[in-house]
Amino acid sequence: MRCRIVGAPVQDGAGRMGCEMGPSALRTAGLVSVLAELGHEVEDWGAVEKAVARPVAHGNLALKALPEISAWTAVIAETAYAASRDAMPIFLGGDHSISAGTVSGVARRAAERGRPLFVLWLDAHPDFHTLDTTTSGNLHGVPLAYASGQAGFKGYFPDLPEAVDPARICAIGLRSVDPAERRAITEADVTVHDMRAIDEHGIAPLLRAFLARVEKENGLLHVSLDVDFLDPSIAPAVGTTVPGGATFREAHLVMEMLSDSGLVSSLDLVELNPFLDERGRTATLMVDLTASLMGRRIMDRPTRSHSGS
Ligand code: ARG
Ligand code: MN
Ligand code: MN
Repeated sequence: MRCRIVGAPVQDGAGRMGCEMGPSALRTAGLVSVLAELGHEVEDWGAVEKAVARPVAHGNLALKALPEISAWTAVIAETAYAASRDAMPIFLGGDHSISAGTVSGVARRAAERGRPLFVLWLDAHPDFHTLDTTTSGNLHGVPLAYASGQAGFKGYFPDLPEAVDPARICAIGLRSVDPAERRAITEADVTVHDMRAIDEHGIAPLLRAFLARVEKENGLLHVSLDVDFLDPSIAPAVGTTVPGGATFREAHLVMEMLSDSGLVSSLDLVELNPFLDERGRTATLMVDLTASLMGRRIMDRPTRSHSGS
């Protein structure tokens, strides 16, 4: 497969600095060579360039860096649309606000192809605030609401060429949901598998059911992997750690199942804050998870089930 690496060194959407260094850390951890060793053709597009921000005023005075994130969203969306033309883009964040651009860009591409876009959101948070409901004002808390066409972004963020149907979004790993987000995701009918659901059922059947839907509708699948999906004990390099996250094995299993499905058409690796890392272990884990998603196996074949022959 042809993979296209796109750096999006955005940090203004997070509450603290450091995510700007994310693309460098992922490259340092060997992302490009790992993909090449798996037999993929890798094209590195370097980094999206920051556009000039126009001042905008908004009634929610908590909002931080609205002009900057709006400008980033516009250039990232254009780049995502271009990069998804004839390759699988892998977007290197940057904080999660980059997904306002990546998801809207690939959604436009999917619509042009006449294919429904599905989104798998692997995160401790739903990032489903609107500009009006966020109380922290950190815009990494809004990308999924924007990309799925929730109200209140018009005139502040770029006009959405194509909204993702919220019913085609599945969020897995949630364990920190603000009250306004809980109302909004429930209302919008987003599929949510929080950590409790993972504990009760295991992560595999939950993901399998979603992948079956993508397959049935002949959809494209965008995967957005936030570092804080992972338990902080294995992935400390993120500004918004929440205890009780996905384990090492759960995370790899998700990636391996995604790989087997052959459905993934684009990927975000977001929220890595290398300033908070310990000898690069989080960056290395994110690269290893990407390797599992892109075909690395423990054995040289997909694991066989015990129920069959
Ligand atoms: N819901 C919280 C907020 O809006 C946390 C968001 C965390 N988002 C993230 N991409 N890490 O501030
Ligand atoms: Mn997030
Ligand atoms: Mn998060």
